[in-house]
Amino acid sequence: MDPMNEMTPVTDTVTDPKLAQDPASKPAKAVPALPDAQTVTEVKHWTDRLFSFKVTRPASLRFRSGEFVMIGLMNDPDPKTGKVKPLLRAYSIASPSWDEEMEFYSIKVQDGPLTSRLQHIKVGDEIILRPKPVGTLVHDALIPGKRIWFFATGTGFAPFASLLREPETYEKFDEVIITHTCREAGELTYGRELIESLKTDELLNEVIGEGFWKKIKYYPTTTREESAKMGRITDLMRSGEAFADLGVPPLNPESDRAMICGNLAFNLELKDLFENTYGLEEGANSKPAHFVVEKAFLD
Ligand code: A2P
Repeated sequence: MDPMNEMTPVTDTVTDPKLAQDPASKPAKAVPALPDAQTVTEVKHWTDRLFSFKVTRPASLRFRSGEFVMIGLMNDPDPKTGKVKPLLRAYSIASPSWDEEMEFYSIKVQDGPLTSRLQHIKVGDEIILRPKPVGTLVHDALIPGKRIWFFATGTGFAPFASLLREPETYEKFDEVIITHTCREAGELTYGRELIESLKTDELLNEVIGEGFWKKIKYYPTTTREESAKMGRITDLMRSGEAFADLGVPPLNPESDRAMICGNLAFNLELKDLFENTYGLEEGANSKPAHFVVEKAFLD
């Protein structure tokens, strides 16, 4: 089963005694008594379709930059039994492994089971966060190389928001190329501001060295609204335009490593391109190789 799939089944059941007695009563948005509750510390709305938020980090939670966890809210109670179940989805952690808080970047789907409600969270609210991080977009799944590519569409930028703030990314690679394809220009803002903020990132400047950010090449493109660079990254690579713009040769197994996170069609197209055109091999935690893939969360 693909853990990033929106149909991920929910197994936990919590019975709220108050609700069992009075099935008509409305539940709180999240149940503070839950062991996995975390408090929202910041919410930012980027467009009418995108928002990001931060929550407190469980003291014992360790994760590798690029991994994801299950997060969510309590569902409405079953009118007959009063039982309330958590509604959870896989979300890439957008903050780096060293950060005190945990950040997430999400789409808002007006009739989506979770995001229709999650988009209304406010500072001080609680969400559920299962402290079991997993994922393949991790440095451990790649063998050493010269250049690392991050390929994202939409909210697939999230794991790269983590990895771009992870010192290991710059310790391991001479060049870091991030491509982000979105429908509209406003959907690039979260990523653009994050990349801009790296220039003054105290930890990275201290650990990697002043000017570390010159290793980064940022390549944003849009497909349905005018911007400086139009087109799907896949088409721009096939035509050679992306490589000419970036001043680098096409990917090859000797020097290039890549991580992919976007919608399913995008992931499959890039995987095919990598394997059949550039000769790269897919890696995993258990068998590191040249590239790794993860599906972006969609509700
Ligand atoms: P397009 O507008 O041409 O479909 P979505 O919001 O549907 O997940 O798409 C996010 C971005 O990813 C859009 O810019 C979309 O382009 C692009 N995209 C969708 N499918 C692919 C694909 N197979 N290859 C490259 N880009 C894709």
